[in-house]
Amino acid sequence: MSLLVVNNVSKAYSGNSPFGRGGKVQAVSEVTFSLEDGDCLGIVGESGSGKSSLGRLLVGLEKPDSGQVLFQDHQVDRRGRDKALQSGLQMVFQDSNDAVNPRFSATKILAEPLKNFFDLKGQALRDRVGELLEAVGIPASECEKYPSQFSGGQLQRICIARALAAKPKLIVLDEPLRGLDVSVQAQILNLLSDLRKNFGVSYIFISHDLEAVYNLANRLAVMFGSRLVEMIDDLSLFNSIKHPYSLALMASAQFRLTDSPPLISEKKVSLGGCVYSDRCPQAFKDCFAKVPPLISLESGHLVACHLKA
Ligand SMILES: Nc1ncnc2c1ncn2[C@@H]1O[C@H](COP(=O)(O)OP(=O)(O)OP(=O)(O)O)[C@@H](O)[C@H]1O
Ligand SMILES: [Mg+2]
Repeated sequence: MSLLVVNNVSKAYSGNSPFGRGGKVQAVSEVTFSLEDGDCLGIVGESGSGKSSLGRLLVGLEKPDSGQVLFQDHQVDRRGRDKALQSGLQMVFQDSNDAVNPRFSATKILAEPLKNFFDLKGQALRDRVGELLEAVGIPASECEKYPSQFSGGQLQRICIARALAAKPKLIVLDEPLRGLDVSVQAQILNLLSDLRKNFGVSYIFISHDLEAVYNLANRLAVMFGSRLVEMIDDLSLFNSIKHPYSLALMASAQFRLTDSPPLISEKKVSLGGCVYSDRCPQAFKDCFAKVPPLISLESGHLVACHLKA
């Protein structure tokens, strides 16, 4: 049994974006993949490509318009009724400042899942809070500090500790390095790598930073314009990457994807072509007419590109 099975999942939001159809923004389109125990799947893609939306669907914070997400064979959008599902599947959000209540001390932040999932109280609760803080490199003696008294990196560690408190099987990390300076990013990456080994937890690691993904993940998925455009099941295939968008990504080693050119135009999307067609230097007639399916190029390597079909 796979840990997570994502089966043809789509999600649109209503909004006034000029990129949407009929007032709808297609955030995630027909995404399919599965994740095995122990995997760390890196998901990269430019701003607005649908990474966070996919992350929220994966942990059941939102319901797909169509398709299914199964965690250990259970449908995740029913997690509200299932504590095992809630604890097994955790998310660390994009902005740690928004993710915690500023009026809660570190103890109170971590106590919530411990009370909720394990009914811990009194000394046992305090001991576990201390253990979790130490596990993410914060002295247990700092447990009564409030979010404003921690640095950005420390606060992100607390968010990671809160996710770990639930003893999850899978954590979706949505840009856990965003807004942190480079040396702190490296520390958090090392921490995540250690926690993965020590706690046997699997990750979906959403990032703008291909280098960070390369360091932490064993698999890579590339998103563009709400779709998965390429996926490799082993980073040894990194140099075999074929999709023109993935190649553009790799070519700019110091890239910051938020700085990339604007999103796909409405015209090309409504024509039903490849989501990358208006930016692709190699696009030809078919690319503007039909969506390329995600096909297998070789074992463990999928790509959605008419050029490669
Ligand atoms: N709650 C929402 N309501 C309306 N539109 C939304 C909502 N959430 C996301 N979107 C839209 O869906 C698309 C995908 O957004 P999403 O946040 O998933 O992208 P992302 O890849 O995480 O971007 P970033 O790298 O900037 O975090 C965008 O066009 C966004 O505006
Ligand atoms: Mg995001």
